[in-house]
Amino acid sequence: MTAEVIYGSELAQSMRDQMKDEVSKLREKGVVPGLTVILIGEDPASKSYVLGKQKASNYVGVDSDLISLPESTPEKELLDLIDQLNQKESVHGILVQLPLPDHIDEQKVIEAISAEKDVDGFHPINIGRMMTGKDTFFPCTPYGIIQMMKSKEISLEGKHAVIIGRSNIVGKPVGQLLLNENATVTYCHSRTKDMEKFIQEADILIVAVGKTHFVNGDHIKEGAVVIDVGVNRVEDGSLTGDVDFESAKQKASYITPVPKGVGPMTITMLLHNTIKSAKKANDIQNV
Ligand code: GUN
Repeated sequence: MTAEVIYGSELAQSMRDQMKDEVSKLREKGVVPGLTVILIGEDPASKSYVLGKQKASNYVGVDSDLISLPESTPEKELLDLIDQLNQKESVHGILVQLPLPDHIDEQKVIEAISAEKDVDGFHPINIGRMMTGKDTFFPCTPYGIIQMMKSKEISLEGKHAVIIGRSNIVGKPVGQLLLNENATVTYCHSRTKDMEKFIQEADILIVAVGKTHFVNGDHIKEGAVVIDVGVNRVEDGSLTGDVDFESAKQKASYITPVPKGVGPMTITMLLHNTIKSAKKANDIQNV
C-alpha cells in the first residue's frame, strides 16, 4: 500500500481563505477579532512560530499584536500584563508563547489568562470542558490533527488510536479529542514497556516525541493512519519529523509530511479560536 499524503498546508490555506471572508463580514459589523501574543526572550524557534502567527493573522484580517519582552522579565510583570489584557475589550485571544524562562511559573501564567480569552485551550477550565465533552477552545495542534483526519473523512469511531508522547500541549489533549470522537485510546511514553507492540496495533498512530525518525515503516500496521507531529532540525538545517516518511508511506493508508503537515494547522486553529472568541464576546452565532 502507498499512503495518501495529507497536506496540512493545503487544508490550512482553504480554511484561512474561509476565515478571511468571515472576518471581513465581522468587520462590517464593527467586530475586529484581536489576538495578543506575548513572547519572552529570544528563543529562535519561538520567534519563528510567533512570526508565523503574525503573518497568518494579517492574512485573515485578525488584528494581531506582538508584545516582546526580555528574558529577565519578572513573573509579576507578566501576570500584571495578562491582567490588563484580560480586561481589554479589543483583545479576544491571549497567547503566551511557551516555553517560558525558568524563573517564571508556566502554570501560574496559564491560569492567569481568562478562560474566555485562552485561545491556546491550556487553561484548566478549558481542559475540563474538553474532558467533559463540552464546546470550548480546543488546544490548537490536537484540534488541527482532528480537522486533517476529518477532511479526508477518516472514520475514528471504534479505531485504536495510539499516541506516542504525553505532553500537555499535544499528546494528552489529542488523546482526549480522539476519545470524544469515540476512538479507543492508548498513550505511550518514555516509560512504556514494549512500545513496538502498541505501535503495531495502531489504526491511528500519532507521534509527538521530538525525536527524528523515532518510528519507521517496519513498526506500523498495514493501512494505519500516521500523523507526525515532530519538527526536528537535522544537521543540514532542514526539518524532519518523528516518522521515517518514506518507509512509513509504503505501509500507511494516510500519512502527514514534515514540513507542510501538522504545523500549518496549529496556527490555523489558533485563528479559528480567536474568531470564535470574538463572536462569543459579541453574541454573534453566524455571520
Ligand atoms: N509552544 C509550542 N507550541 C505552542 C502552542 O501551541 N502554544 C503556545 N502558547 N506555546 C507553544
